[in-house]
Amino acid sequence: MRAVDFIQQKRDGKEHSAQEIHEWIERYCKGEIPDYQMSAWTMAVYFNGMTDKEVAALTLAMAKSGDQVDLSAIQGIKVDKHSTGGVGDKTSLIIAPIVAAVGVPVAKMSGRGLGHTGGTIDKLESIEGFHTELTQKQFVEQVNSIGVSLIGQSGDLAPADKKLYALRDVTATVESIPLISSSIMSKKIAAGADAIVLDVKTGNGAFMKTLEDSIELAQAMVSIGTETGRETAAIISDMDQPLGYAIGNALEINEVIATLKGNGPVDLTELCLTLAAHLVVLGKKAADPDEARLLVERALQSGEALEKLRQLIAAQGGDAAVVDEPERLPQAAFTYEVKCERDGYVSAIAAQTLGLAAMKLGAGRATKEDAIDHSVGIVLGKKVGEKVSQGDVLAIMHANAELDPQHEAVQMTLSAFAIAEQAPAVRPLLQAI
Ligand code: URA
Repeated sequence: MRAVDFIQQKRDGKEHSAQEIHEWIERYCKGEIPDYQMSAWTMAVYFNGMTDKEVAALTLAMAKSGDQVDLSAIQGIKVDKHSTGGVGDKTSLIIAPIVAAVGVPVAKMSGRGLGHTGGTIDKLESIEGFHTELTQKQFVEQVNSIGVSLIGQSGDLAPADKKLYALRDVTATVESIPLISSSIMSKKIAAGADAIVLDVKTGNGAFMKTLEDSIELAQAMVSIGTETGRETAAIISDMDQPLGYAIGNALEINEVIATLKGNGPVDLTELCLTLAAHLVVLGKKAADPDEARLLVERALQSGEALEKLRQLIAAQGGDAAVVDEPERLPQAAFTYEVKCERDGYVSAIAAQTLGLAAMKLGAGRATKEDAIDHSVGIVLGKKVGEKVSQGDVLAIMHANAELDPQHEAVQMTLSAFAIAEQAPAVRPLLQAI
């Protein structure tokens, strides 16, 4: 079909066949469809949407456009989890050892952070010696031997999505549910998991700001999973404030270790147990989420999940002694307390602003090439709903340069906390399942 006819089909609200979509993506990757025609089509999708069948075809076409990880040599149902991104989100590092301790294999590829959100791989690299680049053979062998491996994205996963995403970014076509859901799921499918649990964030620190949009995105991704033969479940979780207290790589690893010792923040622990229970159901180690919940709680309380983290760190060359002595993690030279300027209640914490403040300290990168400082970041002193008095510590900033009240990152951190006279209605952590 001529490119112009394909664009016209979508402009006029008609349905493409799976074959037409596959050809469209293949020709785009080969450079036969120019960016201006692809942009016209994505704008037509933005306005007219796509059917479930079309979205599934687009997802598979993008998943097949590059390397596809073959996990068939790993015994059992391989599960993966994906979060739509957030600040202080270290859930993968807690969930993977819990789920592996219950006997469900976790072979997970994770990304690096960009902008205000952190990346699992950067966090792991704050542990001395930890290798995030394994060969496919090492990756598979490790999962077969200890049940878990977390590595960086290798090869060329879903290059069609990479090219298309860059184009959407500059043509005002990112905010389209069919395009977002196919983009995320194409990478998950190429990464080889049999079953996927999605943590769709909602709120000011999230990609989706409203509950309605988050539910629509979750439903679209579950429908893609179903159409493409991967069992998929989704939960919607709040990102109107950072998850847990720590933001920044080594600081977050410290919080991961505390959580696996049973001393973690309530919100972080609850979200991890919920997501882990869903993964255990999809991994067929429990019949329903209630039975799975008992198994994941037992893995946490018995210390088996913590032991799994130790094994994971040791297997990938890292200093496993950090589990017992977290002070071995990189430490920043200076700390600075950001104090509350008036009495009241914390009514909101702008997660995105704190993510950007941590980035200014060196915890994140503005461009892919930037180096990061694993030791720096921010630890919250208060969460939404807490009563505060003037002079209370709202946050402690960990930096490798001395900070003062005029420092941009300090100003940003202070501005992230909204203080109200009345206690706010606290939003539930899990918004919908
Ligand atoms: N994340 C992705 O991977 N793709 C999108 O389109 C949006 C967020």
